[in-house]
Amino acid sequence: MKGKFPIDKFRKLRTPFYYYDTELLRKTLKTINSEAGKHEGFIVHYAIKANANPKILNIICQNSLGADCVSGGEIEASIKAGFPANKIVFAGVGKSDWEIKLGLEKNILCFNVESIAELEVINDIAASMNKVASVAFRINPNVSAHTHANITTGLAENKFGIAMHDMEGAIEEAAKMKNIKFTGLHFHIGSQILDMGDFEALCNRINDLQDELEKHHIKVENINVGGGLGIDYQHPNRMPIPDFKDYFDTYAHHLRLRPWQKLHFELGRAVVAQCGTLITKTLYIKKGTAKQFAIVDAGMTDLIRPALYQAYHKIENISSEEDNDTYDVVGPICESSDVFAKAVDLNKSHRGDFMAIRSAGAYGEIMASQYNCRKLPKGYTSEEMGVES
Ligand SMILES: Cc1ncc(COP(=O)(O)O)c(C=O)c1O
Repeated sequence: MKGKFPIDKFRKLRTPFYYYDTELLRKTLKTINSEAGKHEGFIVHYAIKANANPKILNIICQNSLGADCVSGGEIEASIKAGFPANKIVFAGVGKSDWEIKLGLEKNILCFNVESIAELEVINDIAASMNKVASVAFRINPNVSAHTHANITTGLAENKFGIAMHDMEGAIEEAAKMKNIKFTGLHFHIGSQILDMGDFEALCNRINDLQDELEKHHIKVENINVGGGLGIDYQHPNRMPIPDFKDYFDTYAHHLRLRPWQKLHFELGRAVVAQCGTLITKTLYIKKGTAKQFAIVDAGMTDLIRPALYQAYHKIENISSEEDNDTYDVVGPICESSDVFAKAVDLNKSHRGDFMAIRSAGAYGEIMASQYNCRKLPKGYTSEEMGVES
């Protein structure tokens, strides 16, 4: 066992694979529950999109979080993992008819609706099934999250949500529909947000919207502020559990929640990112003209974030203890963007060494593809490998 990784056990497995530190996951969930639990009416859902490995879902479900789904497949995965349907919220700009039917059949808590066109379809389908759909409107608050452009979602230019000036009209439309019950407002400004000022800006926007709605005697039962809390990719060991206290306190201090209201959160990355590591084996060390490459057996098919968002993941050679050398760490996929890191210092590396690509528990395994006819990476937990703290 080197550091926190059971290398001897890794040798028996085919690489690349995901390794999940379930002790860290459980501690993270305990912190979430204790920090959110300090505030009346706070309800936390887990954003299934971050990682739907059944072993991970099971642990999250055991810790009483609800589920935030964006597809019928995610609804099925969460129900299979044991999440009660009445704790499932369903978002997404393009819900298909079968997905809407599934949500209604299962009696999920709420549809987060993103357009009037979608509202009409939900109303029609609900009528055909003799059901009433609970809906929240996803409002595009035009609040900037200072994060990567590809993971910003709450700006007027993004495809998500209903524009603020259309909100009242949408609520009035919903009131006319027999098979729709308006139950709340939903927001989500983006992901990997570390500046609490961005969440504060969202709170201020929601406060203004609520004041405006109250002038028109519109009462809102639920406010859902989405997810977005970021993690420290540079230093995965420094603070492996994100600062949930600061996060929930920001909402408690800045959002004027009415006494009857519930405040919902949909956290993904902050729950699972730090517990996951992509373990890959070094295939070749190749000297180029100006640089040296460590070619590993994981590629962008296993972890696409660096290629897709130029995301940084800390890489460690967990087999070698020799002095550092500098490498570009690259995968085997036939794409120039299949690069995990450029010019990083690693312990001198050799064929066969294990590399740990850290903070890969969120948007890692779930985004894997079979491009180049590759096999999907498996996910193993520390518990099943018998690793004790
Ligand atoms: C509507 C919604 N809620 C929650 C999340 C989860 O975000 P995060 O993983 O940043 O917490 C996302 C992510 O894209 C989202 O789109």
